[in-house]
Amino acid sequence: MTLETLGKRAERRRFLRPFAGEPVWPPPMWLMRQAGRYLPEYRETRGKAGSFLNLCYSPELAAEVTLQPIRRYQFDASILFSDILVVPDALGQEVRFVEGEGPRLDPIEDAAGLRRLDLAQTAEKYSIVCETVSILRRDLPDETALIGFCGAPWTVATYMVGGRGSPDQAAARLLAYKDPETFQRLIDILVESSVDYLSRQIEAGVDCLQIFDSWAGSLADNQFERWVVAPTRVMVARLKEKYPDVPILGFPRGADQLSARFAAETGVDAVSCNTAMPLSGMVELSERTGGVVQGNLDPLLLVAGGEQLDERVGAILAAMKGRKFVFNLGHGILQYTPPENVARLVELVRAAA
Ligand code: CP3
Repeated sequence: MTLETLGKRAERRRFLRPFAGEPVWPPPMWLMRQAGRYLPEYRETRGKAGSFLNLCYSPELAAEVTLQPIRRYQFDASILFSDILVVPDALGQEVRFVEGEGPRLDPIEDAAGLRRLDLAQTAEKYSIVCETVSILRRDLPDETALIGFCGAPWTVATYMVGGRGSPDQAAARLLAYKDPETFQRLIDILVESSVDYLSRQIEAGVDCLQIFDSWAGSLADNQFERWVVAPTRVMVARLKEKYPDVPILGFPRGADQLSARFAAETGVDAVSCNTAMPLSGMVELSERTGGVVQGNLDPLLLVAGGEQLDERVGAILAAMKGRKFVFNLGHGILQYTPPENVARLVELVRAAA
């Protein structure tokens, strides 16, 4: 496939302009987890799909929920509807989502557990997700960028080893200390499969990629280097070699002071900042890396709304004005967010002077 150059795509899709080196104002915006349970139309489609994973593996329905927030709010970018746990599921470690509790996997505890994973069997599930991408490329407005994604190897490994989400990722951190060879093999499998998965998404039509490392913040700095930076660097290098015109956003949530190092060492085009990153830190990151910065409104403030929301959005915009910036939240939108607060947010960002 020959991909249109970034410059050409950026002429039609303003979301891409900061990545082509042009700051745009008002800044492009989208929200992490913008398709989800805060929207009544999502809940309706989700009901039709039965299980959450079934929604991820039903291209027509997954495309429908991707389009829902675009119809309501005309965000500059849409994000493919899927989940980071599609990768372990495709590799053969079956994933279930328990209503009200979150994901459950049969944990991988040692070298023997790795034998359940099979890189050769992922094609079927990855192609189903890529059908969603093809439908979206057909049905999205031409001016809306489409973001493909996967979880970073470290974050996906925390679920595979722990068998569920946990506040401190203790199971994965412990395995990484006790048996680094086995843990490295798991990370290598994830790097390999994620590069394959993202390449397929690009071939199917996404404009750019985001790599979600939601649990990057739980590691000591030497472990951060080994399990967050190193695998991400390999993924970025391999993708850039084949697809130099596809921008890559990294979201090393909680990386804080390590964010600039993360950007420099991995080669991502943008760093997405979580809410705890001070605005001065975002400005510094923008200066030090020269790349795009994305972030970082508190998702809880979007739930609360009111004057504080207006003020904080104003402060973020004032700090980032003139920079290569993408407006977003510091983490995913919460289920109990009033849709009218999202409408207000869009109005505020679009009015940025
Ligand atoms: O709109 C979008 O941003 C695209 C879709 C998307 C989902 N998950 C849909 C989803 C994306 C990009 C993700 C990423 C994801 N998934 C991450 C990284 C980002 C983050 O939030 O830190 C992680 C850690 C996961 C794993 C995951 N998926 C968990 C822990 C849960 C359960 C928690 C919950 O909110 O219920 C999910 C389920 C999930 N993924 C839902 C959605 C819309 C809700 C499930 C439902 O509809 O029942």
